[in-house]
Amino acid sequence: MRRLLVTSALPYANGHIHIGHLVEYLQTDIWVRFQKLRGRRCVYICADDTHGTAIMIRARQEDLGEEELIARMKSAHVADFKAFDIEFDHYGSTNSPATRGFCGQIWAALRKGDFIEEKEVTQLYDAQAGTFLADRFVKGTCPKCKAPDQYGDSCDRCGAHYSPTDLIDPVSTLSNTAPEVRKADHLFVNIEKLHGFLDEWTQGGEHLQPEVANYLKGHFLGEPLRDWDVSRPAPYFGFEIPDSPGNYWYVWFDAPIGYIGSTAEWCEKHGERFDDWWRSPETEIHHFIGKDITYFHTLFWPAMLKAAGFSLPERVHIHGFLTVDGEKMSKSKGTFILASTYLKDLDPAYLRYYYASKLTSRMDDIDLNFDEFIAKVNADMVGNVVNLASRTARFAGRTGLSAEYPDDGGLFEKAAADGGAIAGAYEKGDYARAMRIIMAAGDRANQYVEQQAPWNLAKDPAQADRLRDVCTVGLNLFRQLAVYLAPVLPRLARQTGELLGEPIASWDQSQKPLLGTAVNKFEHLMQRVDPKRVEAMVVASRTPDEEEGPESVPFDNDAALLAEPLAAEISFDEFARVDLRVARIVAAEDVPGAKKLLRLTLGLGGENRRNVFAGIKGVYEPADLVGRLVICVANLAPRKMKFGVSEGMIVASGGGGGEVYLLSPDSGAKPGQRVH
Ligand code: 2FM
Ligand code: ZN
Repeated sequence: MRRLLVTSALPYANGHIHIGHLVEYLQTDIWVRFQKLRGRRCVYICADDTHGTAIMIRARQEDLGEEELIARMKSAHVADFKAFDIEFDHYGSTNSPATRGFCGQIWAALRKGDFIEEKEVTQLYDAQAGTFLADRFVKGTCPKCKAPDQYGDSCDRCGAHYSPTDLIDPVSTLSNTAPEVRKADHLFVNIEKLHGFLDEWTQGGEHLQPEVANYLKGHFLGEPLRDWDVSRPAPYFGFEIPDSPGNYWYVWFDAPIGYIGSTAEWCEKHGERFDDWWRSPETEIHHFIGKDITYFHTLFWPAMLKAAGFSLPERVHIHGFLTVDGEKMSKSKGTFILASTYLKDLDPAYLRYYYASKLTSRMDDIDLNFDEFIAKVNADMVGNVVNLASRTARFAGRTGLSAEYPDDGGLFEKAAADGGAIAGAYEKGDYARAMRIIMAAGDRANQYVEQQAPWNLAKDPAQADRLRDVCTVGLNLFRQLAVYLAPVLPRLARQTGELLGEPIASWDQSQKPLLGTAVNKFEHLMQRVDPKRVEAMVVASRTPDEEEGPESVPFDNDAALLAEPLAAEISFDEFARVDLRVARIVAAEDVPGAKKLLRLTLGLGGENRRNVFAGIKGVYEPADLVGRLVICVANLAPRKMKFGVSEGMIVASGGGGGEVYLLSPDSGAKPGQRVH
């Protein structure tokens, strides 16, 4: 039997899951559920990607150990996935003994095959933070067009790519100090030795979408492949390289090995033989990833697997980015929406269906447009699919389904025959096409119900048999759709199984009507999307741009309070985690170039001083603030802003439009005192 091992890219442990991530996890989950429904042996593996400089820095900023940080983030990721019905067979972590073990195995194979070379690398080093700087932790002036404030790898203004050491006046974004140039020996994989193999594997037409194969040919394979730098000197959060003490595997070396490590944990748990999954021609490996990480998965990764004797992926399925209303997700517009924020207002089934209706097998970006989202879910899910059940189930509850399938003018047969095209579309990842065929079947079924008008038949006792037959047809056509939609809408499939007394567990159930059974009480299957909840979600996601930052907690005046929805309820313990303290403003100064910010130095008792940026420029004169007592959120993680690091936040009320009122304790309160 065909065995499938399916993965999604491992999410980084330095951030929460958002609706952009969900494109991929939903796409993969739908594919896996489809395969399982078809009776295939299919295992869905994922894990958190936990190593690297970003995690190390975030842990420092939050004053946590890295292990603690990644454990917290993993629970948050797992909860978000579960809430969206994304069902992994195993969810691991790259920071595991299993992954470390496979890193060692693959490393040994690379050494043995003579793929590893040592070379000196010049890198920027932040002496204050005590770390080498990854490209995105350095900013400076573009060496080409002289645009200020550009990241260490490329220029936003002119598109030039360069090395961070080429930046003019580089500054570390960690400490705002000028970094030093330091040299260190790094270890490289010579993947040029596998150029011939990679040509063949990428261009053979089986494993990659044609546009991906062309991209690789045009951008990488036309010339010798550059050596890949896979080590980082200490300090680095990751696995130390056993035969190179003081050096660590670069996060992108161990991340994909996490696919293997996590599979091994699953094997261990379920008594499976590891080699059946990663060293067997009977198993097809399918990776789902976004286009930004194409070359890791289509050049480095196959090269590592090949060198170490593991199976190669059968297919790497690559999707585009998510845009919202045609633009990049934006925090200030409220379109950078976290999974957990979405869930406070909306049913996950909406997004599962909406994404399914947009996804194709191509690498195109997909656009989320809220008007379309509302219209599509309401028309297709509620108005079409669910409507079929709600207009027939009530009447059939009294009679059950007919013992023989009535004449429906060929509707069931037609939709059963569509099964082949629908399955073909799912298999190829063209969910948009699958959804179109399913919705067309739903339209035909609704026309039938409309014509037969069971609500009229129900008024005439002499029409009882006819009524039962009409409902038997309507509910069977509905059930057929529920089977076809089960990969996308697992909850609807479960509820349909409960309604009709037979769980939906196999694609074949779409091919044969259900007869002679009781119909259970009809429960509401899905609500219409409420546009107000969509709006509330966007409002809740809106935060000022990073550079101006959210400096104060706004609690509004009476009138505004009505317009502003209250935040979600929290427990007392959650509230108690916020450490509010009395602070005295010991210095206040203007921040040149900032629209709203003043820089404040807060005294929290004794020598304890904090640098805080507050969005109160133009409202308060710096000189008037000095000496004043305020309330400060003292345990807020430091935030990197355009003008420096903000180490807390002062509390104010305000109604927008420039209205800000700083909160102060009565005189007599002492700086450093806790606010209860
Ligand atoms: O791009 C990312 O978010 C990475 N964390 C994906 C890793 S995928 C795999 F290689 F582990
Ligand atoms: Zn430039």
